[in-house]
Amino acid sequence: MGRHNTAATRAWIIFTLALLAANSAALIGQTLKVTRPPDIKNGKVVYNGGCIACHGSEGKGAPETSTVFKRPDTWPDFTKCDQTTPEADSAWKAVIVHGGPSRALSPIMPSFGDLLSNDQIDDVVAYMRGFCRNRHWPRGELNLPRAIVTEKAFPENELVISTAVNASGAPGLTTDFIHEQSFGTKSQLEVDVPWVYQDQNHSYNSNIGDMTIGWKTVMFSSLRTGSILSLQGSILPPTGNTKLGGNGTTVFEPFAAFDQLFRTNTWVQFQMGADLPVNPDITPQHLFWHTALGQTLSPDHRLGRQFSPMVEFLATRDLIDGAKTDWDVMPEMQVTVSRRQHIRAAIGVRTPFTDTAGRTPQVSFYVLWDRADGKLWEGWK
Ligand code: HEC
Repeated sequence: MGRHNTAATRAWIIFTLALLAANSAALIGQTLKVTRPPDIKNGKVVYNGGCIACHGSEGKGAPETSTVFKRPDTWPDFTKCDQTTPEADSAWKAVIVHGGPSRALSPIMPSFGDLLSNDQIDDVVAYMRGFCRNRHWPRGELNLPRAIVTEKAFPENELVISTAVNASGAPGLTTDFIHEQSFGTKSQLEVDVPWVYQDQNHSYNSNIGDMTIGWKTVMFSSLRTGSILSLQGSILPPTGNTKLGGNGTTVFEPFAAFDQLFRTNTWVQFQMGADLPVNPDITPQHLFWHTALGQTLSPDHRLGRQFSPMVEFLATRDLIDGAKTDWDVMPEMQVTVSRRQHIRAAIGVRTPFTDTAGRTPQVSFYVLWDRADGKLWEGWK
């Protein structure tokens, strides 16, 4: 037990590099915004004509003495990159076209859909992007819909409650309480506390599982090509009960996450890493390779509610001689639930399709709350 199977490791690495190479080859030449490059000068004209009275010449908001309205809590300061870069252009566009209430924001923000052309709105959005002067923030477009298993590259401010229930065999479920907090332009802290419940020969046992504490850093991101690459290092202290699947030894989990968005709103997310226990005699080392392939669909020229069907391909392999690779497939769907789109939910079914003995299908679902966009009870209507 616990001895490295070097041939398998090598094959794995070659497979991974080949996939990454194939993927980057597909990217060469892609530019997300091909339709029409926005005219920033014209955007300024539009801004100075219709927006400056409320939003001010620098995007911080006009002096309070010159505006009569009471500022809502969510009042935007467009020079604050930490607040503006997570918002996709489509989110701004929805508010400009349909007014504040379309995203459960203040009705003081008028709708300009009838006053401005589509091009004028694209131009004013491009001009307003210039209010944030720091180019190091990854852009919110690259924050792809969260897959149930595959971890994404984008640093988040989220709270997620995610449950996986055995669909056959002995009843059992695991619920993860996941807190993600971004730091600065490129980093994110993640804390995941699982709660495990199992029926073991009619004795019902529940316990906290192995916690995860992780630190993620964005290595590269580009809105132009639609790509983002991050590295994460995690530590899992053995807080769980080994009878309920706990590792029984501290595990280190490094991984790389690479996400790619295409012009068609199709995207793919890769996550590759290893679980490296301090004592591999207690629980074996293993490698994992996760892929999520999906498409975001949204009515009203992508300004409405988002539906993201996707399928995950999940592989794990113990690093011991003669171990087989376990493959699972997981079709799933994520939808934006609240009007502001800061509450989202997903459901999926994870089915083993190789080495299926003793592995049960699971139904998984989660609810997530993007805390940067408002409180849990705000933004519904
Ligand atoms: C009458 C005042 C007023 C005018 C004119 C106005 N806005 Fe606004 N705008 C607001 C207010 C108030 C909010 C904040 C709504 C909230 O947060 O509840 C807002 C919010 C926004 C947001 C949403 C930012 C976010 O937090 O997601 C965008 C984008 C925006 N305005 C763009 C524009 C553009 C572009 C124009 C000109 C074409 C414009 N606004 C004209 C008052 C105005």
